[in-house]
Amino acid sequence: MERRKMRKRSWAEPYKIKMVELVHMTTREERQKALEKAGYNTFLLRSRDVYIDLLTDSGTSAMSDQQWAGLMRGDEAYAGSENFYHLEDAVRKVYGYKHVVPTHQGRGAEHILSKVLIKPGDIVPGNMYFTTTRLHQELAGGTFVDVICDEAHDAENLFPFKGNIDLNKLENLIKTHGAKKIPYVSIATTVNMAGGQPVSLENLRQVRELTKKHGILVIHDMTRVAENAYFIQRSEPGYQKTPIRKIVHEICSLTDGATFSGKKDALVNIGGFLALNRRKDYIEASNLVVVYEGLHTYGGLAGRDMEAMAIGIYESIDDDHIHARVGQVEYLGQQLIDHGVPIVQPIGGHGVFLDAKRFLPHLPQASFPAQTLAAEIYLDSGVRTMERGIVSAGRNKQTGDHNYPNLELVRLTIPRRVYTQAHMDVVAESVEDVFAKRKKIKGLDMTYEPKYLRFFQARFKPLK
Ligand code: F0G
Repeated sequence: MERRKMRKRSWAEPYKIKMVELVHMTTREERQKALEKAGYNTFLLRSRDVYIDLLTDSGTSAMSDQQWAGLMRGDEAYAGSENFYHLEDAVRKVYGYKHVVPTHQGRGAEHILSKVLIKPGDIVPGNMYFTTTRLHQELAGGTFVDVICDEAHDAENLFPFKGNIDLNKLENLIKTHGAKKIPYVSIATTVNMAGGQPVSLENLRQVRELTKKHGILVIHDMTRVAENAYFIQRSEPGYQKTPIRKIVHEICSLTDGATFSGKKDALVNIGGFLALNRRKDYIEASNLVVVYEGLHTYGGLAGRDMEAMAIGIYESIDDDHIHARVGQVEYLGQQLIDHGVPIVQPIGGHGVFLDAKRFLPHLPQASFPAQTLAAEIYLDSGVRTMERGIVSAGRNKQTGDHNYPNLELVRLTIPRRVYTQAHMDVVAESVEDVFAKRKKIKGLDMTYEPKYLRFFQARFKPLK
């Protein structure tokens, strides 16, 4: 009996595989050619030239058999599709928001929201910027101001809730500009650009209290809210026995509305929504969506897409699912830590973020260390990652110079339910090999820079 108790019990994915997709292996020569053709930007590679694709966790998840079955129940009526009502029901039940406007993906919701709530000259505080979110705020005439806690900008700080808002920064901002200039506080769960770092419920409650006092709304970028709930369950005092679904509901209850990219937590390849509690905002949003996305009961989605997203929302808040999901990310991160590879800690919810500043300390930030490192990893093994540093940060609107973010990162983003632990081992070995050769790595020069969201399409060439 005693021996049985002591025995190690392994962890396994809470699903089995019904269908497989073959992946392609390439030679180093083939990858060298592909990389040159792609201008050393992993976004410009063809997917057939990629072996293990960790570019993003967005739209890359594996759907369940239930979701695939849901596709067959698509009600493709132009107006009033049954699937819209299933989606609305899921959003109300799981997240608790009152009104739902479907959109083709997260940035569609950000666009409508920014048009409804932001006036030219407004200030929008947030817990670190996200690329598309900030751009839509700016296009609506607003200015984003980062009010995340200082710990978030430090890749080595082990604070478990690096997504938290610094209340002093927020309060000072309100004092400086006045509450009338601040339509809402933008709060993301988890914070992508900080490395998938969570916000605590305690912090959310404090933000709620402060904003209530000033009549400012709180809008929730709830793209990875289930992953955020996992960290609360693990580390926030009092939540260790609370199911994920309850934590998710509580997070949402502290906010007035949300933008959602269904392509992450909700396990679909396309889809999103805007949720609003204030009826007058909903009325305006449901009118605007007709202009930019589609009728307010489909918002740019097919009926079948809404059905798959509704089912995915329920699957996303299952405790076993989320433990396995973040568990796999942590498995990869821990291997890298054990080999001395510098990564953002604590390990985030949706990916492992390499700290390119410490990985390639000999490269100045203006020679794009993270972009360079992503290219080197691809060259080594065909593993595709992406830059989250100076290229993603874009340029300062006033001076035109690069923004120089503290964090210069390469994101190894793990799609949900797609890769096995053996794939994670292959990835870790490749990163470790590149790390061993790091001193020989030279930087890049940017040869083409698009006007918007440059990281997607910029081109580079190696420095001599
Ligand atoms: N907010 C966050 C925090 C995101 O990570 C994303 C997308 C969006 C909003 C926009 O959603 O793509 O559906 O329009 N992030 C993807 C990524 C692109 O790779 O991190 P979308």
